[in-house]
Amino acid sequence: MQVLENGLSLREILPAEQQKFSDKDKAWIQQMVFGVLRQLPLLQFWMRQLLEKPLKGKNKVAEFVILLGIYQLAFSRVSTHAAVAETVSACQSLKVQSLKGLVNAVLRNFIRQDLATHTPDNAQIKSGLPNWLYKQVEQHYPEKLGVLVDAMHQQAPIWLRVNQRQITVQDYAKQLSEQQVEFSLSAEHAEAIILPRAGDITQLPGYQQGWFAVQDGAAQMAAALLDAQPNERILDACAAPGGKTCHILERQPNLQECIALDVDQSRLDRIAENLQRLQLNADLLCADAASPDKWWDGRQFDRILLDAPCSATGVIRRHPDIKWLRKAKDIDELVQLQSKIMDAMWPLLKPGGSMLYATCSILPKENHQQISAFLQRHKDASLGATTQHGDPPGRQILPGESQMDGFYYCMLLKSQ
Ligand SMILES: C[S@@+](CC[C@H](N)C(=O)[O-])C[C@H]1O[C@@H](n2cnc3c(N)ncnc32)[C@H](O)[C@@H]1O
Repeated sequence: MQVLENGLSLREILPAEQQKFSDKDKAWIQQMVFGVLRQLPLLQFWMRQLLEKPLKGKNKVAEFVILLGIYQLAFSRVSTHAAVAETVSACQSLKVQSLKGLVNAVLRNFIRQDLATHTPDNAQIKSGLPNWLYKQVEQHYPEKLGVLVDAMHQQAPIWLRVNQRQITVQDYAKQLSEQQVEFSLSAEHAEAIILPRAGDITQLPGYQQGWFAVQDGAAQMAAALLDAQPNERILDACAAPGGKTCHILERQPNLQECIALDVDQSRLDRIAENLQRLQLNADLLCADAASPDKWWDGRQFDRILLDAPCSATGVIRRHPDIKWLRKAKDIDELVQLQSKIMDAMWPLLKPGGSMLYATCSILPKENHQQISAFLQRHKDASLGATTQHGDPPGRQILPGESQMDGFYYCMLLKSQ
C-alpha cells in the first residue's frame, strides 16, 4: 500500500518493516510483497470481478489485504484454509474489523469460482507490466516481445562478484562447494558466480571479510569496459551505492585517484560501507554532477564512468516496485537530466580520454537516442571500442540475456 498509494520504494520502506520480525517471517514478507507487485495487474483483474465497487478512505487497506489473500491462493503453497483465515484476521490488526465478512466472502468466491484458472485474454495484464510500459516494449522490441516480457516477470538469479583483491574465483567456488551452495560460473564474466536461489547472502563464506559483492552480470561489465590503467585519474560520476566504483578499484589497484561522486549523502554513505567491507579506498564527494562549477578543481580525468539516473526499466525483475513507481511522464524528464549531466561531465575529461555512459534502462530514448543526440552536440566526441561498429550506437543488453539485467553501455572518446 505504501508503494502503490504513497509512491514509496521498497528500498525505503521494506527493511524497516522487516526488522520487526524473525528471519523466517522476513523472507515471507519479502515473498508476499514482491509477489503482489509482480502479479498486480492479474490480481486486480480477479479482484474487480469479486468486489462490487472499490473500497475508499480508511477501508482502502482491505483491498490490499484481498490482493495478498488472492496472491496466496493463486501462487503460494500456503493451505487454502490458512490463507483465508490469516488474511481475514489481518483486518483486525489493520482496524477494519467491519470488513472481515467482506474479505472472507471475496476469498471464498475466488476459490469457489476457481478464478485462479481464469487468465484474461489480455497480453498486458498477463505481462505484469503497466500499460504504458507494455506499449513501449511492444513498440521497440516487437520481435522479442514474448521473451522479453517473460524475462521481466521472472525472479532474477543472484550474481556475486568475487573480490579479486581477496580471493580467486576458483578458491571462492571451492568454498561454496564445501558449504553445499548451488552455483554456476559465467563464461563471459571473469569474476562472476551465479546463485540460482535467493538466500541470505550475509551467511555466505567471506561476507564479513569482503570476499565478494552482490552485483548483476550486466553491471559487472562496466569496470572491464572502462578499463582503467595504472596512474590514471578516474571519476565515477553517479556512484552510489558504489558497486561499480568497487569493481573498478578491485581490477586496478594502482590508480592515481578515484573519485566517487553522488548527489545523495545517504546513498554516498552506502559507498563508504561497501568500500570498507571490501577493503578498498576512494575519495567520496557529495555533489551535483550537473553543476561541476560548484565543486570541480579544474584537473581533468582520464576516464569517467557516467552510470546515469534512469528509468531502471532493465532491472524490474529485481525491483518490481519500479513498475508502479515509474510513470510515463518521468521518461522525458530523465532524458533531459541525463543529457544535462553528460554535457556537464564532458569538459572534465582530458583530450584523448574516454567516458562510459551507462543506464539500467531498455528504453531507446535514454540509450542510443541519447548518445546520437550527444554526438550531434559534441563534435569532439566519437564512439569508442566495443561500440563503434554498432548501429544504433552502444550495446543494449535486454533482461534475461545470458541471465543478466537489462543494461545499456556506450563508450565515448574525446578527440586529442
Ligand atoms: C544508477 S544509480 C548508480 C549506481 C552505481 N553506479 C553502482 O554501480 O552502484 C544512479 C545514481 O545517480 C545519483 N544521481 C542522480 N542525480 C545525480 C546528480 N545530478 N549528480 C550526481 N549523482 C546523481 C543517484 O543518487 C544514484 O545514486
